[in-house]
Amino acid sequence: MKIVVATSNAGKLKEIARLLADQPVELINLADLDSVPEIVEDGDTFAANAEKKALTVARATGQPTLADDSGLTVAALGGAPGVHSARYAGENADDAANNRRLLQELEGVPESERSAAFVCDLAFVLPDGRCWHFTGKMAGRILNEGRGTGGFGYDPLFYLEEHGCTLAEMPLDRKNAISHRGQALRRFREALPKLLRTL
Ligand code: IMP
Repeated sequence: MKIVVATSNAGKLKEIARLLADQPVELINLADLDSVPEIVEDGDTFAANAEKKALTVARATGQPTLADDSGLTVAALGGAPGVHSARYAGENADDAANNRRLLQELEGVPESERSAAFVCDLAFVLPDGRCWHFTGKMAGRILNEGRGTGGFGYDPLFYLEEHGCTLAEMPLDRKNAISHRGQALRRFREALPKLLRTL
């Protein structure tokens, strides 16, 4: 079965492809499609945005579609950047600018109050509108400066006490084994045989 992965984020694509590598599905990237409607991520929740992305692409392509909406929530910032994680420092902000803004916002906040979590909602949508959600969450702490060169997004600032390193200092397979997206994808993978039977 072909599944369109509705993301243009290369970091996410790599993680999703790795975690579904042994499944009887062929993943199609947005970049391989002729035209895809523009999707405005204006939902208040990760679930609403994931479903909107997946539904828009499933309707446009006529193919089952998987979309992830994920982000960082920081308790000391009232849950920000949350659904705005990709655009925290502005509309076309890159990872470096978003990380700089996060550090500015947390300036002076002590280590004990820098707890954060990555959250992921994965929506699997059929062209007829049927939708399933799979979620994952990972807790950590925001450092005062970045460490490591792997991963993407806020990975260099996200420190995992129990592993003694940031997500950007971990090989991809180790990140996938514990990450918010890894958890959601494993839940999707477990449900896949049943989902395939409903198609
Ligand atoms: P989305 O593409 O709208 O879901 O935006 C997700 C944003 O959240 C990304 O651009 C990153 O800034 C952040 N993010 C989500 N997952 C991760 C991750 O695994 N590591 C680091 N940053 C992440």
